[in-house]
Order: sequence, then C-alpha cells, then structure tokens
Amino acid sequence: MTGPVLSLDKATIRFGGLVAVNNVSFDLQRGDLFGLIGPNGAGKTTCFNLITGVYKPTSGSIKFKGQEIGGLPPAKICTLGVCRTFQNIRLFPALSVLENVVVGAFLRKSTSLFSAFAYLPPAIAETGRLREEAMALLEVVNLAEVASSRSADLSYGKQRRLEIARAMATRPELILLDEPAAGMNPQEKEELQTTVRRIRDEFDKTVLLIEHDMRFVMGLCERIVVLDHGEEIAQGPPEAIRNDPKVIEAYLGEAV
Ligand SMILES: Nc1ncnc2c1ncn2[C@@H]1O[C@H](COP(=O)(O)OP(=O)(O)OP(=O)(O)O)[C@@H](O)[C@H]1O
Ligand SMILES: [Mg+2]
Repeated sequence: MTGPVLSLDKATIRFGGLVAVNNVSFDLQRGDLFGLIGPNGAGKTTCFNLITGVYKPTSGSIKFKGQEIGGLPPAKICTLGVCRTFQNIRLFPALSVLENVVVGAFLRKSTSLFSAFAYLPPAIAETGRLREEAMALLEVVNLAEVASSRSADLSYGKQRRLEIARAMATRPELILLDEPAAGMNPQEKEELQTTVRRIRDEFDKTVLLIEHDMRFVMGLCERIVVLDHGEEIAQGPPEAIRNDPKVIEAYLGEAV
C-alpha cells in the first residue's frame, strides 16, 4: 500500500475553553520511527488519545491507511491495527508477565482489555501457540527470563517493556509509545532504543513515540514533530529540531 499509514489533518480537540490539540497535521509513512515532543501539557498524550479513539476530535481528520478513524471506538481502532502503551503503566499486576502478553493477543478480537482478561484462563490452558507467540515477544523486550514472575514485582523499567510486548501482541501495524523510557536508567534506555529499532526493522512496524529524554528521541527518531500549547511549532529531522529557535525557546531551553 502506498500513502501514509497515519495522517492527521488539522486534528483539534477542545475541553471547554482549552484547545488541547489545535490544528495538528502530520503524516507517518510505513516504517517511520517518528517522535512527538514538547513541554508538559503540550497535548502529546491527547494526540494519542485522539488517534486511539479515547477522544473524538472536535474537528479535523485522523486517517489510518486512508480510512477515517477519528471518533471510532478504541477497540475498533485496535482491531484495525493501532495499539499503544500508556504514560501511566496499565498492566494486570496480579497476572504473570507471560499472561499479560497473552491478554494482548486477545485484544485483537475483544471489545476491551477486561473482556480479553475474562477469556484468559481457559484459553491459556488450551493453546500453546499463544504462549509461544508471547514468549517470542518477551525475548524481544528482554523479559523472557522473568516470564513467570508477577508483573507487579517487576521494576518500573521492565513494566514499561512488558507494556510494549503486550501492545505488540495485538499485532498492530502502528504502535504508539507514550514515554517508554520514563523511569529507566541510562543502560535500560540504550537497550530500549535497540528494542524499538528492532520492532521497526524486524517486525516491520511503524512507530510513533512521545518522550522527554532528548538524547533518547534524537538518537532514535528520524522525524520529529514538536507541540507547544496544543499547536505544532516545528516538524523535521532531529538536527533541524535541535537547532530550531522556536523549539529551543518553547522547550529545549538551550541547544542539545
Ligand atoms: N479529559 C480532559 N479534560 C480536560 N482537559 C484535559 C483532558 N485531557 C487533557 N487535558 C488537558 O490538555 C492539555 C494537554 O494534556 P496532555 O496530557 O496531552 O499533555 P502532554 O503533552 O502529554 O504532557 P506531559 O508531557 O505532561 O505528559 C493539558 O492542559 C491537560 O490538562
Ligand atoms: Mg503526556
């Protein structure tokens, strides 16, 4: 297929008097590794919420592979091939690491995370295939050795990687990562960069990620869009973003 995987055209959402995302437009081509950055409250997570159907745009368009998805229910958008991780980690703490990933596989068909959860026990007993698939994804995020641990017992950084594996289990074409490196130490961040590159290169995914760690974003993403107060203030490759006076003033403070 040609044409963008994801296309935002003047996407806008208002919450009362606040325009949290204001006329934001950008396109992701297949295989892009794209960054979304900006100061706290800029509207980054709200963009993810628009793309994944948590909120319906007040105006503007959001297309996935040419199909309008703005305002569709989240479960429908997930089934179409868009999946995400959350800024505030959302795992099933009492389930094992492996089971959390298996739940993701059920999201392909289910209407919600909770109905996926309800299907889990008999299904996991029945099928070795899902376990195998989940184990393969745990290898990718370096969690295979803790597959049977309770997810609540993992470090914060590992829980973030587990969320990525769960999102991958839905077999998305487009994966959205909301601050995947938050709370990670420098070594974990480096490993995560490798993991995200693998997800794009070996699994053929398109990746859109939000991150405040500029070293991480600039070292990983090939294109970046910058939001400030809901508005897009710059878009381009890392070198251009790093030296853009508007971005430096609104966010970076000084050239990085
Ligand atoms: N459901 C909502 N109702 C009202 N205001 C909201 C809602 N969701 C987000 N906002 C507001 O929209 C603005 C953008 O929030 P958002 O969470 O998208 O920022 P962000 O760029 O992700 O910031 P951070 O880097 O801190 O995560 C903020 O002012 C926030 O308070
Ligand atoms: Mg956010």
